[in-house]
Amino acid sequence: MAECIASMLMDEIVPALDKTGGKVTVVGVGQVGMACAFSLLTQGICSELSLVDVAADKLRGEMLDLQHGLTFLRNVKIDAGTDYAVSAGSRVCIVTAGARQKEGESRLSLVQRNTDIFKGIIPNLVKHSPDTILVIVSNPVDILTYVAQRLSGLPNNRVIGSGCNLDSARFRFHLSQKLNVAPNSAHGWIIGEHGDSSVPVWSGVNVAGVRLRDLNPDIGSEEDPDKFNELHSEVVNSAYEIIKLKGYTSWAIGLSVASLVSSIMKNQRRCYAISVNVKGHHGIEDDVFLSLPSVLGENGVTHVIKQTLTAEEVAQLQKSAKTLAEVQAGLKF
Ligand code: NAI
Ligand code: 2OP
Repeated sequence: MAECIASMLMDEIVPALDKTGGKVTVVGVGQVGMACAFSLLTQGICSELSLVDVAADKLRGEMLDLQHGLTFLRNVKIDAGTDYAVSAGSRVCIVTAGARQKEGESRLSLVQRNTDIFKGIIPNLVKHSPDTILVIVSNPVDILTYVAQRLSGLPNNRVIGSGCNLDSARFRFHLSQKLNVAPNSAHGWIIGEHGDSSVPVWSGVNVAGVRLRDLNPDIGSEEDPDKFNELHSEVVNSAYEIIKLKGYTSWAIGLSVASLVSSIMKNQRRCYAISVNVKGHHGIEDDVFLSLPSVLGENGVTHVIKQTLTAEEVAQLQKSAKTLAEVQAGLKF
């Protein structure tokens, strides 16, 4: 009947395209997955969005709720299913599925549980979207990015973790508040492991190209009278504090992931502190993923920036790499 009325309303010149080439899949429709989906939709980053989860009712509820908001957004084809067939042809697959930390729990404690969950997810995504780029968000994100690379067999440029993109955003927010400028005018990079052992690169912190270290040689150290080092402690404590207050973190990670996906979908080649395979960078010999500033475009990560680091910063990165390699060696695939 609907088709009949449509043909009375419109003369067909050619059939409408069913596929648009702008498809993104989000696996896991929990707090993080839905914050990613909502950010993607409101910023017009994809033309098709598919949602996958094991919880069928929640999945359908989230799909319907998003679909009902489309009147206020650009037209996006939104679909959902527990079967990975729904994800077919995705240019980017974002993985947010799995367990999250409880109050006081570390990210690393989730590692085997979420590795087991990934075994059922990653091969299915690649089966239906062999050309996809995987963006891993589930924790511990650096190790799970390694796990996703192993399970997918995809080249390193097509498997990234959200890594320290969120930590860097948190850092820039705290910096902006201390200096009373906008967060996107306060420049600074957090690299290494997402979370507890992340590394702030104080030498590069600047506003409008003016390096704060040139104004305050002690910046970031214990001796600094302005106590800038507290900003990094606040970054490390952020997730623990938010989880204690509201049970999970969601909005900032959703926005930060949407920015990554936008750089891929539109080949923007922006630089992000994302989790990439760091073997061969800064003297690291282990096959591990850690965040380094990287250029992100349509074919994934194309370049890693050769950041000038102090000996202490390199030592911190190498120590994190060793710790992650040890945890990876104990994983059951
Ligand atoms: P949540 O509990 O709200 O949602 C998890 C979802 O995963 C649920 O809907 C669940 O049904 C689904 N799921 C579980 N097993 C699945 C499977 N086998 N296949 C498909 N879906 C499955 O958790 P939330 O808060 O959304 O967090 C998700 C993950 O993201 C956690 O690991 C959390 O630690 C991580 N996270 C990472 C951040 C980062 O910066 N990398 C920031 C915030 C959270
Ligand atoms: C975050 O930093 C929990 O990894 C998550 O918000």
